[in-house]
Amino acid sequence: MPTYEETYAAWAADPQAFWAGAAEDIDWFTPATHVLNPDKGVYGRWFDGATCNTCYNAIDRHVEAGHGDRLAVIYDSPVTETVARYTYAEAQTQISALAHVLRGMGVEKGDRVVIYMPMVPQAVFAMLACARLGAVHSVVFGGFAAKELATRIDDAAPKVIISASCGIEPGRVIAYKPLLDEAIEMSTSKPTGCVILQRETQTCDLTEGRDVDYAAAVGAAIDAGQGTECVPVAATDPLYILYTSGTTGQPKGVVRDNGGHMVALKWSMPNIYDIKPGEVFWAASDVGWVVGHSYICYAPLLHGCTTLVYEGKPVGTPDAGAFWRVMQDHDVVSLFTAPTAFRAIKKEDPKGALLADYDLSKLRSLFLAGERSDPATIEWAQDKLNVPVIDHWWQTETGWTISGNPLGLGMLPVKLGSPGKPMPGYDIHVLDDAGKEVAPGTLGNIVCKLPLPPSVFPTLWNAEERFLSSYMNDFPGYYATSDAGIVDEDGYLFIMARTDDIINVAGHRLSTGAMEEVLASHPDIAECAVVGKADDLKGQMPLGLYVTNDGAGRDAAELEKELVQLVRAKIGAVAAFKTAVAVKRLPKTRSGKVLRGTVQKIADAAEFKMPAAIDDPAILDEISEALTARKLIG
Ligand code: COA
Ligand code: AMP
Repeated sequence: MPTYEETYAAWAADPQAFWAGAAEDIDWFTPATHVLNPDKGVYGRWFDGATCNTCYNAIDRHVEAGHGDRLAVIYDSPVTETVARYTYAEAQTQISALAHVLRGMGVEKGDRVVIYMPMVPQAVFAMLACARLGAVHSVVFGGFAAKELATRIDDAAPKVIISASCGIEPGRVIAYKPLLDEAIEMSTSKPTGCVILQRETQTCDLTEGRDVDYAAAVGAAIDAGQGTECVPVAATDPLYILYTSGTTGQPKGVVRDNGGHMVALKWSMPNIYDIKPGEVFWAASDVGWVVGHSYICYAPLLHGCTTLVYEGKPVGTPDAGAFWRVMQDHDVVSLFTAPTAFRAIKKEDPKGALLADYDLSKLRSLFLAGERSDPATIEWAQDKLNVPVIDHWWQTETGWTISGNPLGLGMLPVKLGSPGKPMPGYDIHVLDDAGKEVAPGTLGNIVCKLPLPPSVFPTLWNAEERFLSSYMNDFPGYYATSDAGIVDEDGYLFIMARTDDIINVAGHRLSTGAMEEVLASHPDIAECAVVGKADDLKGQMPLGLYVTNDGAGRDAAELEKELVQLVRAKIGAVAAFKTAVAVKRLPKTRSGKVLRGTVQKIADAAEFKMPAAIDDPAILDEISEALTARKLIG
């Protein structure tokens, strides 16, 4: 077995030969004419000239290879007290029939389909049904409100939307249909139809002439023996668009292609995660996030594994033993989740007493990503689970690990606080703001030298200019990750902070700029700033500061309630926006730029240097006083 060093060196010596080798694990309808075509796209396009189908590789080829009886998807839902299992053959039937229904509604290769669903197996089937047709899916996380859904509908212009009657959060049923109707009402682009999964917990009225009942339509297609073939697409054709937070209220549509995505994800399963076909891999995330796309849906299935769709939480469904119960019941060999989930478990069961009730002898590893893994959480997990705990660094833009600790290549020594070393494909550098390489151990902008590896986004949907200005222009020849950090003498990365206005709340990527836009839309608000305040459980929580219009004369508590409600209504519960504090003024530079970084340091009671360009230093004391009065600091 080659080591990490040998593998990385083999890639560095001949990247195209390396990825051509990895591509042998994928079934292509026609092979690539170029492993990387440097003349296409901003930095080249992978597997140009090849044709393929992602659903074929994820499902059909396993059935054809005689593994139809193997479990593909296990659905475990403590919130509905349901467990369901689908073999590869059953999944194929479901997906093929749904693709037939979509085709009947006019969906063809290249058309977009928005999927707005809770964590049910039909969400995964919907993604794969789109892939089967060569249609481009765009999954929208269920915790987003109607306005966010509408923004995505407008940008992706889907022909069809697949949704459900409701989602279920502990203690609360979320009716999706009114949100969907409101979003479609708000959008300028209207879908020609919707497919709605009626859930027993709460059904909804279907809109005549627009909505199709998911179960009835798929059931009828199955009964009639109707399905679809896997439509060949170019390897460079888009498989999906996943919207992620950018620096404004307009989310960025990250585009993932078919060929490179399959190659990188398939490679990752044995090499990074050390998983064999037939084993049960569980990514405790949501299909609305990139981790859910890559490791609930695509990678485990491309590798012939069993994936788990879990509709529950780490705590409260019913208790902090939920993850242990799921891993025991389904023979999970590897768990992938966000550190927040473990912080939540540790908070409720600090001694890990509930572990004694479960048999986790099958578990071999825990992978953490989505936010910084604090050493205390890693140590707790190592101690309680007694398996390797691996931090790895990711972005929606990449779709897979940028840096990590590849278990399948022999585990590197773990350095607490570091998500390991660069994976093959990523040539990572740390640059100062002028673009000069910094010395090892020095904080700087983390960038990746072009070309980027397979799976990493070739562009933003309908926004090539934004793609260039957000990622490619600041450091010519490099992809700017917008993460700041260091590489130490041993080549380990440490991710310290974002260089933009993105904050990370419970492993969810959120834009403070988007929240500021919402606060500023309130008629009584003159100006505002939102920063991420450190939080023991969720990593960060948004904190809003606002100045009211002259003469607004508002009661602060009442206005705060309105602002919290406004963010919930416009962005969604997932923003976790709970605190808005009135201040007299916001600190600014002499040129009028709000000093958010300094506000954040004050909110975190961290040391800070007085910004040289500050207009009036007294404002910082006013902020401290306002936060102290609210008992947020001190
Ligand atoms: N649909 C609708 N609402 C949702 C939702 C969904 N799919 N997911 C979350 N929400 C709501 C929550 O109910 C909560 O609402 P509330 O303000 O009424 O309580 C709000 O959005 C904030 O959610 P969250 O930040 O997740 O907080 P939480 O208190 O519900 O749960 C954790 C905290 C730690 C248990 C939870 O965040 C978790 O399991 N995190 C794991 C990390 C993860 O999945 N990361 C994804 C990337 S890997
Ligand atoms: P997302 O696009 O939602 O996956 O969020 C990506 C961002 O989350 C990165 O740019 C980082 O800021 C942060 N992030 C993800 N994984 C890690 C990690 N292992 N360590 C530190 N930060 C991380």
